[in-house]
Amino acid sequence: MSRIVLGVGGGVAAYKSALLLRELTEAGHDVRVVPTASALRFVGAATFEALSGHPVSTEVWDDVPEVAHVRIGQTADLVVVCPATADLLARAAAGRADDLLTATLLTAHAPVVFVPAMHTEMWLHSATQDNVATLRRRGSVVLPPAVGRLTGPDSGPGRLPEPADVAALLSVVLSGGAAALAPDLGGRRVVVSAGGTREPLDPVRYLGNRSSGRQGWALARVAAARGAEVVLVAANVADPAPFGVRTVPVGTAEELRAAMHAECAGVDGSRPADAVVMTAAVADFRPATVADTKLKKGSAAEPSSVALVRNADVLAELVSARPAGQLVVGFAAETGDAEGDVLAHARAKLARKGVDVLVVNDVSAGQVFGHSDNEVTVLGADGSTTAVPSGRKDAVAAGIWDAVVGRLPAAAPPAG
Ligand code: CTP
Repeated sequence: MSRIVLGVGGGVAAYKSALLLRELTEAGHDVRVVPTASALRFVGAATFEALSGHPVSTEVWDDVPEVAHVRIGQTADLVVVCPATADLLARAAAGRADDLLTATLLTAHAPVVFVPAMHTEMWLHSATQDNVATLRRRGSVVLPPAVGRLTGPDSGPGRLPEPADVAALLSVVLSGGAAALAPDLGGRRVVVSAGGTREPLDPVRYLGNRSSGRQGWALARVAAARGAEVVLVAANVADPAPFGVRTVPVGTAEELRAAMHAECAGVDGSRPADAVVMTAAVADFRPATVADTKLKKGSAAEPSSVALVRNADVLAELVSARPAGQLVVGFAAETGDAEGDVLAHARAKLARKGVDVLVVNDVSAGQVFGHSDNEVTVLGADGSTTAVPSGRKDAVAAGIWDAVVGRLPAAAPPAG
């Protein structure tokens, strides 16, 4: 349980802060809501008080004996401002203390996360961009806004990310601090595969696997939060795409193979990917034949066995086809056996596939599939071994990106 201050700015997206509040309290956190006066024109204080279980005030004058702005700021484990309007970003960057929220920002020792939401013109204005740069330079996290439908008929960058995405990213900051969401992937293009392929037997049946896609989702979400342009090649995952991420849905290993080759090389004028991460569980085999009609029991076509053929090793192909400077990351779910322990098998796989980085899961106890927690070891082709501590899959994703960022060749333009 952490103590979280939820600052709410005065924009239409303030209604989503109530949903974020709900996500945070359901995760067990103690949340104190500090809205601006204009935020209360969009959402009533009663909503925030009922959902948080704490009184709500906007002014430093409301609770003078308690010196609320000092107490709230000093005792927080995390401060999140959602939505952060252009005005709020400007007041925070200027260090103003003209209401309880901005005063609290000045007394907070904890990491501060701004989640901007505003019209595209306001977001792209150089005044706002300068304020964002100032806040980031001081160590705050300023998430890039989502691109999509804004208030009214227009659309573009400026939309508030969905509350579930924000809550997942806050868990990264709670475990790793503001540095875990540093904008160090700005200007980079990354391609992540996720989910599990399905190899059809007939129009209704397939051979599949138990991959939930959650680690790939987390990697895509964290990369987008750290400023990257992200493409997620998603095999059979029903979850909505993380904010700021373009998804390419695929079904079979062959479809995934085609999509990965295209996206890694760069499609429709986009440049090749800087980093490729293969978290997808790709079927190694597919049925040799696919029946056109449903295989019925008792019929002449009833199969007594299924003949399989090998699918391509997409990861190995991507390694051979990669353009200069592209970093390729593989995943391996391993168990130890008589021939070697988990890391020995993983080192051999890293060499066999020729990847720069291999992320290893020990699945001996079956604790990974479908769970929200994970624990991995990152092996480098340079012989390095880095343990990423057990945690939520988003926190683990941040640890994996740390290992990748350090290996990317220099020369990306700065984040913006
Ligand atoms: N992979 C792939 N294409 C395949 C199989 C796997 O691209 N046909 C990728 C996975 O996305 C993962 C990595 O290869 O990043 C490791 O997958 P794994 O199945 O563990 O590797 P295999 O070479 O199939 O090893 P094993 O012999 O242990 O099954």
